[in-house]
Amino acid sequence: MDLRQARDDDVAAMCAADHIAVDQEERQGFIRRSVREGTANVAVLDRTVVGYAVLEHSFFGRGFISMLMVGPTHRRRGVGAALVRHAEGLCKSERIFTSTNQSNLPMQSLLQKLGYRHSGTIEDLDPGDPELFYSRQLR
Ligand SMILES: CC(C)(COP(=O)(O)OP(=O)(O)OC[C@H]1O[C@@H](n2cnc3c(N)ncnc32)[C@H](O)[C@@H]1OP(=O)(O)O)[C@@H](O)C(=O)NCCC(=O)NCCS
Repeated sequence: MDLRQARDDDVAAMCAADHIAVDQEERQGFIRRSVREGTANVAVLDRTVVGYAVLEHSFFGRGFISMLMVGPTHRRRGVGAALVRHAEGLCKSERIFTSTNQSNLPMQSLLQKLGYRHSGTIEDLDPGDPELFYSRQLR
């Protein structure tokens, strides 16, 4: 698996791998912007983009994985874990953060497996589905 910074010509494939971007312009715009800003990284298998992660540093000056997405047909093969480890390698802060909805059990399970711990919860983002924040000390 190749893990590298996303390029402009990856945008279409990133949107195709993202079940939300497929029919949501807002997500497509987020992907385009992330690629332009250099915060998006892709996982490539057999020359196909199978997932991506966005790592930003605007969260209290800390690295924050704001999006992790693996195409539905490529899940449970280690792609998500590899993208998180790649983002950790690029993270400029000593602790890296991310978040997910309380309803998202796959992401919580992945983060627990990778040694992340629950850092706090924020209500009132998605009604009835609190946002759980996780972090891991890198150095
Ligand atoms: C969450 C997500 C990124 C996981 O990606 P993935 O490539 O399937 O994850 P991996 O194969 O690397 O899984 C690593 C570990 O995470 C856990 N895990 C992943 N998916 C799981 C699931 N559906 N159920 C339970 N545990 C799961 C397991 O411990 C797994 O290890 P194992 O396969 O050896 O048991 C993927 O399901 C996804 O893209 N979901 C939609 C987008 C999303 O919710 N993103 C997160 C919020 S931004």
